[in-house]
Amino acid sequence: MATGEEAQRASEADIAVHWREEGYVWPPASFAAQANLQDRSVYDRMSLERFPDYFAEHAELLDWFSPYEAILDTSHAPEWRWFTGGSLNAAYNCLDRHLEGARNRVAFHFVPEPEDEPVVSVSYQQLWRRVNAFAALLRDYAGVQKGDRVTIHMPMTVELPVAMLACARLGAVHSVVFGGFSAQACADRMVDSQSHVLVTMDAYYRGGRLIDHKAKADETVALAREQGLEVRHVLVWQRHRGRYQSAAPLVPGRDALVEDLLASSFARSRVAPEPMRGEDPLFLMYTSGSTGKPKAIRHGTAGYLAWVAWTSRYIQDLRPDDVYWCMADIGWITGHSYIVYGPLALGVTGVIYEGVPTHPDAGRPWRVAEALGVSVFHTSPTAIRQLRRDGPDEPQKYDHRFRIMTTVGEPIEPDVWRWYHGAVGKGQAVVVDTWWQTETGGWLITQAPGLMPMKPGSAGPALPGIHPVILDEEGREVPAGSGRAGNLCLRAPWPGIAQGIWGDRERFIATYFAKYNRDPESKDWRDWPYMAGDGAMQAADGYYRILGRIDDVINVAGHRLGTKELESAALKVEGVAEAAVVAALDSVKGRVPEVFVSLEPGFDGSGVAAAVRDAVTREIGPIARPRAVWVVPDLPKTRSGKIMRRILAAIANGREDVGDVTSLANPEAVDAIRALVQGGAAGGA
Ligand code: PRX
Repeated sequence: MATGEEAQRASEADIAVHWREEGYVWPPASFAAQANLQDRSVYDRMSLERFPDYFAEHAELLDWFSPYEAILDTSHAPEWRWFTGGSLNAAYNCLDRHLEGARNRVAFHFVPEPEDEPVVSVSYQQLWRRVNAFAALLRDYAGVQKGDRVTIHMPMTVELPVAMLACARLGAVHSVVFGGFSAQACADRMVDSQSHVLVTMDAYYRGGRLIDHKAKADETVALAREQGLEVRHVLVWQRHRGRYQSAAPLVPGRDALVEDLLASSFARSRVAPEPMRGEDPLFLMYTSGSTGKPKAIRHGTAGYLAWVAWTSRYIQDLRPDDVYWCMADIGWITGHSYIVYGPLALGVTGVIYEGVPTHPDAGRPWRVAEALGVSVFHTSPTAIRQLRRDGPDEPQKYDHRFRIMTTVGEPIEPDVWRWYHGAVGKGQAVVVDTWWQTETGGWLITQAPGLMPMKPGSAGPALPGIHPVILDEEGREVPAGSGRAGNLCLRAPWPGIAQGIWGDRERFIATYFAKYNRDPESKDWRDWPYMAGDGAMQAADGYYRILGRIDDVINVAGHRLGTKELESAALKVEGVAEAAVVAALDSVKGRVPEVFVSLEPGFDGSGVAAAVRDAVTREIGPIARPRAVWVVPDLPKTRSGKIMRRILAAIANGREDVGDVTSLANPEAVDAIRALVQGGAAGGA
């Protein structure tokens, strides 16, 4: 029985569904024969005894202006610095170095959501030109300098990687905010990173509608001003060049149409790639944690780029003649690492799809794949569940053919896995389940597709050079291969690991290291195991199964949301006295938030549930929209007044047994809530 602090929480790992361990599925021999990673000795070569020297292999995938001197500098432990003492540029590695041999190769096919709009294919040469031009605009018009933060709040279009790579070229630090996030979320991130330039777009298509996006920029600027930050420039791309499609007017002196500035001044400009130190920051990516405020994960240049390039090559198995479609959004880490930086570093052709996968029907992805000859596919279990639900027989209508297909972000149930493998992959494609996080920069736990079998429902053993360990609450090692659950940790760092949290070293240490750190003064990596925040178990064959978050984070459709963020949005609604958010299991999205609120005395509850839903959607974005909002007379609490989320989670998930209620100050609250929820009363609007 959980006690104390733990009992008040109800983590994902607590409510995880467990499936039985499955047998192996072997890849076709033809796959293994062509795989980029066929050398089994890689695991020995990258053993812990040889750490960190073997990461020289990763750095070799990059072009350096001047060679690095040290592989790992631990002097700022645990803010690890990789490949220090040399210089390089990420945009140079993603663009310039391919011009010699592959200037006419397509870098990105842009697929608009409206099916009658033609695909736009951009070559490496063309992408390079546009990045140069936009870098010149950022520098000479918007005054962006090396080290400045630039916020990019954009939909899925080629202009998004153009903006990112332009920052990288200048040595500016980009902070991409997922396009679906609210103006409030964007403003908070601008304020936290002290960013004075916002790159946005007028409009984009989603779910069959043209969405006005520029309006959000105006709101962002106003909300940032309330917090004391002046946004100096709003740079607006147009979804259709030359046609401005937002109802929000351009604000003179602040807003500018990018295409106009390019045409008048910068279209032919060239900007020399800034030589960056290996450890210089490349970007910030905000992610949710246990507190109400999202934190800016800071990724460095050389280590990050080397890690995503290596994993793209050896695990995603990318080859220069591949057409690779990662269906994630670039606004999340998956898109950064596996749409932009990894594939471009290798000079591969990628696909950027604007809209929702099921638009106009669930055959769309397979039509796109057929038309473009997509050979490698990457998506989330949520997208797979949606596509199966809406079009189980669609894949067989098309002649697409994938060599390898990856999944990311959530555990994939064996049943869903089998449909993906059989229907989508036609039984031929190798399926790889990739476990990682915003903080890890790239994949850490997967099977090596050419070397070992697949196992539905398991992420696989660790990548070569990655050394996980499962620790219990006291820091004891859970025996390897014992099938016992514990906290997933990494014994040693790797080049893709976050370099820190922007402006908050203490929070970085507290979140990922403090629990298992052996000596806060130590500069020895052995004293700083990284705690991922996930529960996991390892089977006898070394394959890991991920159970879910152990903290106050819920993974909704593969996106991370902090329950505290949702609660603070709910608390802004008039009349709400207390709010508690829990994760409820969902057959499509994996997990979804449900909100429980109690009201201030004498307050009439009508309309509150709808207002809470709106508040959450407005403050965070539609992805956080609760499945239900329950207005309850009282929330179950301990005698010291702490809300028992564990009990609420059990009720939301339809469990008979809600656990021990004897320590509650108000046990009668439980029955009232159960009657409301399990009795099927409508949960709000
Ligand atoms: O709980 C794990 C889950 O997603 C979390 C990381 O979320 P985020 O930083 O947004 O990155 C998502 C894309 C990498 C993890 O702590 N997660 C990620 N991949 C898997 C997973 N859970 C199970 N299986 C996976 N393959």
